[in-house]
Amino acid sequence: MDPRKKNRGLYECEITEKRRLGPGVFEMTLAPFTADVRAFQFAMVGIPGRGDLLLKRPLCLFDTTPGKEGEIKILVKAAGEGTKALKATPVGTRVEVAGPFGEPRDIPGEHIAVVAGGIGVAGSYLFAKQNAQRISAVYFGSTTRWDDEIYKLLEELGTPARIATDDGTLGRHGPITELLTEADCDAVVACGPPAMLERVYKITAGAGIRAYGSFEARMACGVGACRGCAIPAKPEKASGKEYLMVCEDGPVFAMDVIDWERYRAAGI
Ligand SMILES: Cc1cc2nc3c(=O)[nH]c(=O)nc-3n(C[C@H](O)[C@H](O)[C@H](O)COP(=O)(O)OP(=O)(O)OC[C@H]3O[C@@H](n4cnc5c(N)ncnc54)[C@H](O)[C@@H]3O)c2cc1C
Ligand code: FES
Repeated sequence: MDPRKKNRGLYECEITEKRRLGPGVFEMTLAPFTADVRAFQFAMVGIPGRGDLLLKRPLCLFDTTPGKEGEIKILVKAAGEGTKALKATPVGTRVEVAGPFGEPRDIPGEHIAVVAGGIGVAGSYLFAKQNAQRISAVYFGSTTRWDDEIYKLLEELGTPARIATDDGTLGRHGPITELLTEADCDAVVACGPPAMLERVYKITAGAGIRAYGSFEARMACGVGACRGCAIPAKPEKASGKEYLMVCEDGPVFAMDVIDWERYRAAGI
């Protein structure tokens, strides 16, 4: 049996804590969730009290405490109906959570730069935490300054943190990717909007550095059945495949495997 399936469960969780971490971004703690979780794996989270929103929504596992008393933390930013409703859900509510989903991937490298764009910090944070010894720095960029708690969490990782905001309210004024051009690293792993991922790919490809990205796509099943989360790949780099499934094959891919032109044209 696929070990991913063995580790996967369906949980009736309670929202035990909720706090704001940034503009429109809430951290929610959900328990119980007993499975082991690797960085960039995600959960499919139901929207309580909304029978009209049947499908669970994919959300990164921001932090995790496995075991009998286990819990997970997720970050929620409203994109549409589902995430808006979830963000407004009070502590004490029960939520159906399935997971973990996604391929646990090892990222080779001894000095890895971690790049997080906005809500992409939800995936990157756990990677930096689980691989602290191998992280050269965490680069966190957002449109504007987030709450102090998020910077405190990054600081507590014990790895250098580089901050940028598009409006200059904290750190470097401008895109976080421009700080990456000065990075001393042998690999980069990035999670954020598609334009940021492509910029990271261009910078790293030019410098001969291996880069990996955690990709997003709309998801229905989360297990490779509906083919709804396909992203275009270069067949010669993807074992002959024209498309890769973000839920099953990803969400982390080596960036040189992606067919960026078709990806951009698809507007995913
Ligand atoms: C692996 C993975 C991990 C994710 N982790 C997080 C996370 O930690 N925190 C978080 O807040 N969001 C995360 N997302 C994005 C989140 O799943 C979507 O924002 C959410 O499913 C949208 O549902 P909705 O009902 O709010 O919006 P809908 O009404 O379904 O759509 C509203 C808008 O959001 C866009 N959208 C819908 N689904 C996605 C999607 N999967 N990715 C990107 N845009 C989408 C639509 O195109 C539309 O423009 C993740 C997505 C994936 C695939
Ligand atoms: S979400 Fe159904 S195949 Fe990926």
